Order: sequence, then structure tokens, then C-alpha cells
Amino acid sequence: MKAARSDFFVSSPSAWVKRWSDRIPRGGRVLDVASGGGRHARWLAAAGYTVEAVDRNIDPLADLADVRAITVRRLDLETEAWPYSSASFTGIVVTNYLHRPLFPLLLEALMAGGVLIYETFAVGSEHYGKPRNPDYLLRPGELRAMVVGRLEILGFEEGVVGDPRPAVVQRLCARLPENTASNGDASSTPAQLLSGKTDKITIA
Ligand SMILES: C[S@@+](CC[C@H](N)C(=O)[O-])C[C@H]1O[C@@H](n2cnc3c(N)ncnc32)[C@H](O)[C@@H]1O
Repeated sequence: MKAARSDFFVSSPSAWVKRWSDRIPRGGRVLDVASGGGRHARWLAAAGYTVEAVDRNIDPLADLADVRAITVRRLDLETEAWPYSSASFTGIVVTNYLHRPLFPLLLEALMAGGVLIYETFAVGSEHYGKPRNPDYLLRPGELRAMVVGRLEILGFEEGVVGDPRPAVVQRLCARLPENTASNGDASSTPAQLLSGKTDKITIA
């Protein structure tokens, strides 16, 4: 049985993901990394994308078993082999999850023209609540540094937010240029493609 559309919205998608998700090539295949309850997998599937939701705990995704547009994969992203080949996805979404060794794998998994949307906690957020482990907190500018020379930065912000709770976050939307001959050669991307803009965001 296919889930009713209202069943898709068990929790609101992030405003950052909502803001940028239409930059993912229409109808493409999107990877929702550490998808949790699948709020972004659900949002993206409702927007017409095919989604692979991957998490080590897929119990909260049980209701998606019959949703054709979403494939759920149980995987420990930190101990098991990365199962995706290069240029597999037109979009990759990561929110509230950080495992730095995945950075190069995420970039490789993007198709030319594909879009990476990433948002998670950053240093300073430990003063507001969890996570407090520095392994889970981005260093200043770290998301931007991850993609510089590889992807075209469409949006980048870092700072304090008040919604859904006070935290320090960093967020990025970046695209692998269409004319990238082979994803994996950092030196092949022209520097002038880097159009990143940094905004400070603060609690209203
Ligand atoms: C804070 S939740 C974020 C969920 C979702 N991205 C969101 O923003 O709603 C972190 C998620 O990372 C997953 N996770 C943590 N460590 C993981 C690992 N080693 N492999 C796969 N998933 C992991 C957890 O199961 C959890 O669903």
C-alpha cells in the first residue's frame, strides 16, 4: 500500500533543505545520509525525487516500506564499507550528522550537475546543548573548505540559529559543475566557479 501524502510529514524538513532542494536536478536520485526519521527522504520523494535513505537504525523508516520512491538501507556508515559507486546521485542531503571520513565519498558519489546540501552543528553549539563531542562539531568554515576547488558553492552560512532550538550551525549548498569531466580530479575545477558567500545568522 502506498502511504498517503500526509503521512510523509511526520517531522518538518529543515528550512535549509527546503530552500535549496529544488536545485537538485528535477526527478533525480537523492541520497539522504543518516536519514533518521526520514523527514528529508519524505520531503524529497513528495517533490518527485527517487530517494535512498540510509541509516544504521531504520526502525523509524518502517512506514516507508511500501513507498516506491524511497529505498531504505540499513548501514553503519562508520564501520561498514561505503556501498555507493562514484557519480551515483544527483543530490545528497546530510543534516545533523557528521563523520568526516565520509567527506570525499560524498563528493565522489555526486553526478555532474548534482547538488550537495549539508547542515549540521558547529563549534560553539556545545554551549547550547548536544552534541558536545568535537568529533560532531564542524570547525569554522569546514563545510566550505570541504568543497572548495571541487564544487560550485551556491550557499554557505554559519552562525547561531534559534529554530528549531538555539544552536550553532553551518550549512552549505554546492553543485558539481555540469562540465566536470571526471568527478575526483580537484584540479580540473576552475577557481572562478567558487561563488561562495558567507552570511552570519543570529537568533532573531
Ligand atoms: C540527529 S539524527 C539526524 C537525522 C536526520 N538526518 C535529520 O536531520 O532528521 C542522527 C542520525 O544519524 C544516524 N547515525 C549515527 N551514527 C550512524 C552511523 N554510524 N551509521 C549510520 N547512521 C548513523 C542515527 O541513527 C540518526 O538517525
